[in-house]
Amino acid sequence: MEAVIGLLLMLLRVSHGVETYCDGRQDGAQCYGALGGTVVLQLMDSASEISRYQLFKNKTAILSGIKNKIVSNLIADRSSFTPSNGTFRIHDLSWTDGGEYTLTIFDSDGHRSEQRTLQLIIQGVETYCDGRQDGAQCYGALGGTVVLQLMDSASEISRYQLFKNKTAILSGRKNKIVINLVADRSSFTPSDGTFRINNLSRTDGGEYTLTIFDSDGLMSEQRTLQLTFQAPVSSVLLVSECLSQGEMRVSCSSEGGDSPQYSWTLDGHTLTDTQLLSGNNETNNITLKQDVSGQLTCSVKNHVSTVSKTKTISTCGFIFIDCTCNNGMHISQWVFEANNTLKPTTTSITATEEEEDK
Ligand SMILES: *[C@@H]1O[C@H](CO)[C@@H](O)[C@H](O)[C@H]1NC(C)=O
Ligand SMILES: *[C@@H]1O[C@H](CO)[C@@H](O)[C@H](O)[C@H]1NC(C)=O
Ligand SMILES: *[C@@H]1O[C@H](CO)[C@@H](O)[C@H](O)[C@H]1NC(C)=O
Ligand SMILES: *[C@@H]1O[C@H](CO)[C@@H](O)[C@H](O)[C@H]1NC(C)=O
Ligand SMILES: *[C@@H]1O[C@H](CO)[C@@H](O)[C@H](O)[C@H]1NC(C)=O
Ligand SMILES: *[C@@H]1O[C@H](CO)[C@@H](O)[C@H](O)[C@H]1NC(C)=O
Ligand SMILES: *[C@@H]1O[C@H](CO)[C@@H](O)[C@H](O)[C@H]1NC(C)=O
Repeated sequence: MEAVIGLLLMLLRVSHGVETYCDGRQDGAQCYGALGGTVVLQLMDSASEISRYQLFKNKTAILSGIKNKIVSNLIADRSSFTPSNGTFRIHDLSWTDGGEYTLTIFDSDGHRSEQRTLQLIIQGVETYCDGRQDGAQCYGALGGTVVLQLMDSASEISRYQLFKNKTAILSGRKNKIVINLVADRSSFTPSDGTFRINNLSRTDGGEYTLTIFDSDGLMSEQRTLQLTFQAPVSSVLLVSECLSQGEMRVSCSSEGGDSPQYSWTLDGHTLTDTQLLSGNNETNNITLKQDVSGQLTCSVKNHVSTVSKTKTISTCGFIFIDCTCNNGMHISQWVFEANNTLKPTTTSITATEEEEDK
C-alpha cells in the first residue's frame, strides 16, 4: 500500500499543455497523459493495410479493426481512432486509463504477426495557492493535487489547526504534526508551511480555516481560504479562413475547461490593434488585417491549466492599391493580387509582407 502511494506521489507532477502525443510504434513505449487531458497514441503508421488489429487494456480488446474499418471501440464516447494515420486519440483521461496497452496485429491468414505494448502514465494536474492572506481563492483540478501555502513556516508556531467543516483535519505544534485526518493522500511540511493534498475530490472543495495559537494558548490569528474546482483545458483548435476583402478570421476553441481565458501572440508578441480588424488579444475569435502573417499562437488558460496552439499564417494574397488612374478615377482598396488588372505604373502599391520578401 505504501509503495502504491509512493508511486502515486511520484506521478503527481505539474502538467501544463494538456494534450500529449506518444509514439507507440516501438514495443515498450512510455507514454504520458494529463489527468482530464488528451493523449494521442500513434499505434501504427496506417491501419489501411492491416488485415486485423486489436488493442488490449487489461485483457479486454478496447479497440479492434480491419483495415480502414473500426469494428469496435469500447471508449468511443471519448476517443477516436483514425485508421489512415494510425492515431488513437483519447480525451477526458482518468486515472483508470493508466496502465499497459497491448496492440496485436494479425496477418491475412489470421495469424498473429506482431505484438507490442505501451505504458500510459497519467499525471495529475498540480496547482499552488498562497493561502497566507485571509480570503484567498484557491483552485484545484479533480483528481489532481493542490499545494496550499498555509504559512511561511510552522516551526515557530506554538499550535495551529486547519478546519474544514468544523473538523480539525490538520493540527500541529511547531514541527510536530499532531493530527492529519487526510494523511493517506496528503502531507504537511512544517518547515515551509505547505499542505499538499493529492487525488482531490469534490468533497475537498469549500472553505478551510486556519487558526493559530500563541504560546499562552490564545488564538492569535485566524484566516480562511476557499478551494474551488476547475476542469483543465484540454486540446486547443485554431482555425483560420480568408474573408472576401483579404482579411483573415481566426477562431480559437478549446475542449473542456472551465472559464477559459484566451490570449494571442504573433511571432511571440502580443497582438496589437494595428494588426486586428476586430476582436482583441483576449477574445477567442479575431479578424486580422490583410498584411498580417507569421507564427500565430492562441493560448487558453484557466486557474488549473494552460494550453496553446501555434499556426503559421500567411496573408490571403491581397495587395493594397491606391492609384489615380488615367481616367482620373481614384482607386484605393485591397484587391486579390492574382486578379489584379490595374497596371501599377502610376500606382503606389502597398505590398503584403510576402511580397516584400521577393
Ligand atoms: C491523424 O488524422 C486525424 C484526423 O484526420 C488528424 O486530426 C490528426 O491530426 C492526424 N494525426 C497525425 C499524427 O497525423
Ligand atoms: C486494469 O488494470 C489496472 C492495473 O493495470 C487495475 O488496477 C484495474 O483494476 C484493472 N481493471 C479492470 C477492470 O480489470
Ligand atoms: C482517488 O479518490 C477516489 C475517490 O474520490 C478513489 O476512487 C480513487 O481510487 C483514488 N485514486 C487514487 C489513485 O488513489
Ligand atoms: C462540508 O462542507 C461542504 C461545503 O463546504 C458540504 O458540501 C459538505 O456536505 C460538508 N461535509 C460535511 C461532512 O459536513
Ligand atoms: C491585451 O492587451 C492589453 C493592451 O495592450 C494588455 O494590457 C493586456 O495585458 C493584453 N492581454 C493579454 C492576455 O496579453
Ligand atoms: C467564435 O467562432 C465560433 C466558430 O465560428 C462560433 O461558434 C462562436 O460562437 C464564436 N464565439 C464568439 C464568442 O463569438
Ligand atoms: C479571382 O478571379 C476568379 C476568376 O474570375 C474568381 O473566381 C475569384 O473569386 C476572384 N477572387 C477574388 C478574391 O476576387
